[in-house]
Amino acid sequence: METSPKPVTVTIDSHQISVPENTTILEAARQHGIRIPTLCHHPALSAWGGCRLCVVEVDGNPRLTASCVMPVREGMNVVTTNDGIIAARRLILEFLYAERNHNCMFCSQSGDCELQALAYELQMDHLTVPQSFEAFPVDITSEYMAFDHNRCILCGRCVRACREIAGAYVLNYQKRGIQNQIAFDLDVSRSESSCLECGVCMQLCPTGAIFSRYRTHRSVLGHPKSARQVKDSFCTGCGLMCDTQLVIEENHVIRVDGCLHSDHDGPILGQLCARGRFEILKTPGHRLLTPMIRESDGTWNPSSWKVAMDRIEKNMNGFNMGIFGLVSSRCANEQIMIFRDMMLKGWKADYLNVLEGPSLRSIADAWTELGKTFLALKESHAGRILDADHVLVVGVSAFNTQPAIGGIIRRIVLEKGVPATVIGSVDAISPRTRHYIRVTPGKEPVLVQAFLAQVLKSQHQPGTPAWESVLSEFESIDIQKSLSLAGLDASDQEIFQSAVNTFAHSQSPIIIAGRGVMGRFGVNCLRHLMLLSLTKGILPENALRMIILKPDGNSTGSLKLGIPAGNTIYRPGAWQRGVMLLEDENLSDSLVLNRLNALDFLAVITPYFPEALADKAHVLIPRPVGLEEEGTYTSLNGQENRVRQAALDRPDQVSESWQTLLALIQRTEFHPGYARWKDIHTSVMREIRAG
Ligand code: SF4
Ligand code: SF4
Ligand code: SF4
Ligand code: FES
Repeated sequence: METSPKPVTVTIDSHQISVPENTTILEAARQHGIRIPTLCHHPALSAWGGCRLCVVEVDGNPRLTASCVMPVREGMNVVTTNDGIIAARRLILEFLYAERNHNCMFCSQSGDCELQALAYELQMDHLTVPQSFEAFPVDITSEYMAFDHNRCILCGRCVRACREIAGAYVLNYQKRGIQNQIAFDLDVSRSESSCLECGVCMQLCPTGAIFSRYRTHRSVLGHPKSARQVKDSFCTGCGLMCDTQLVIEENHVIRVDGCLHSDHDGPILGQLCARGRFEILKTPGHRLLTPMIRESDGTWNPSSWKVAMDRIEKNMNGFNMGIFGLVSSRCANEQIMIFRDMMLKGWKADYLNVLEGPSLRSIADAWTELGKTFLALKESHAGRILDADHVLVVGVSAFNTQPAIGGIIRRIVLEKGVPATVIGSVDAISPRTRHYIRVTPGKEPVLVQAFLAQVLKSQHQPGTPAWESVLSEFESIDIQKSLSLAGLDASDQEIFQSAVNTFAHSQSPIIIAGRGVMGRFGVNCLRHLMLLSLTKGILPENALRMIILKPDGNSTGSLKLGIPAGNTIYRPGAWQRGVMLLEDENLSDSLVLNRLNALDFLAVITPYFPEALADKAHVLIPRPVGLEEEGTYTSLNGQENRVRQAALDRPDQVSESWQTLLALIQRTEFHPGYARWKDIHTSVMREIRAG
């Protein structure tokens, strides 16, 4: 039975304090509002005790003690501030300043630097020790972050963050003495290293050694901290809904921080990925603030709202064939629902899909197929990866869609020795993979089928009618032939066999399915992975031991709202008139562009001028960007719905998306049963919960 830690009574600066044993002096002081300065310490990281800035006097001992690593003991008497302690801290700080170039007027973090703040606090107005003039390198090989070794104080926070939060183990110390430096892997540049560009090292760096290359001009003098607002929010980039803190100045997000926490049981620990931390700071194009119409000579001209809306009504009403709607699944559920009703009920669209249509369709169809034998199951959540004793990653070329999942897998492989198997054309968790079964793209389905057939042969399943039908479906599979078809040579086949054995002997595996097993031919493969997961039983929450990495931030919301819908098999020329609802995507590489040539009419509702559609669309209607309006988003596994509040002010001339969509729907023959935001929200939540 667990016992709670014994209370210990200590005196800190003449205050008698009772704290649980094993609490450090620093924690005890902080819990009671007594400030001790720190540099290498951070509550989200393990304690290191390297910088000595936090020194205190214990029981009158003249040898000062680092309070961030020293636990309290009964009767301890601690003094946190006296002349000797301040002098010691100041000298430590002077040495840190003297070792490298901290002449910070050109530092992007100036005014926002813990080292600088401590110098002010300790009134360190000049150096009494000699200064080094050694020049250290600056690494600007990353698009997102720069690493200026001249500003580094070797506090190790980045090294620990990279290990303990990102699970990446990229950063370490290299060289010795005065040349001691933080290095990436075996001392290569950031771009050549295995860095994930998650930026958690940057968030935890107390100086300007690691700084963002986006919007840094906002950090320098003339933009005081007091002009900033910090708003709690969450990222809608991939369905993991990582908590964020948005630092906002003059209605611009200038920085996005992860919400770090010291609860090392949580799956994500406050990590963000490059998409959630940096990409969001990019401006995707020219902001659209007024409706626009393309004239017959191809030029785009601003128009009034009435003219643009009339043009849409005239070109969409009364046509019964070839109507299509495409919606970004980065939109909030409310926007997706009204758009769906407008297209299906208002304009009787033949085809309604998200931009990444085929992937989502295959997921929906796989669930339908599974539901014919096994009812009412759902997907697992990222936290379940932490309990896994085997991770099977299939069809993931890189963790681009849900980057934090890769970090969690790397952590459990390294920290707990959990074996990982990868099936696909790329080893997405190299070099941590136990079994890598390389197949050319498109061969994953045949290998997954063989994997399942082999597991079914080696592992007894319950004699229920559902399993009887699965067993009869798979008993005729020729595994050897499938392995040859998948292109596995003798040594690959050994790896395959070993991976199957590992899976068969595992108690709580988790399967991560990526884009390589989605699309037109992915339905069976996804269903086979679902069945593979079911061979290990379901989780207490009635979930499969499986996570499907969906293509976009609110893909699951789109699925729950019944999108894709209608005739989803595209025939060239079948689309004639349509409407698109976009978020911030750049469509220049999108496969959907080929389907938008020679249309009779295309209206696009979008926050930015869509360059890729400049010669395809006919009317553009502006809408706010995601952070300018409230909306509900559904988590990757479909079990959580969160409302994200507007964090930025919307331009006066742009209506909220729901109002624009409602104004359009009112120009159709369909009369929805909602007219206010509250009704729309209630309606969408009812559908999502039932979906
Ligand atoms: S880069 Fe920053 S966090 Fe890393 S050791 Fe240097 S000062 Fe500390
Ligand atoms: S960006 Fe992330 S992965 Fe790269 S060095 Fe920093 S913490 Fe490590
Ligand atoms: S992992 Fe997903 S939710 Fe988290 S920051 Fe990245 S894109 Fe956003
Ligand atoms: S903060 Fe305690 S040693 Fe650095």
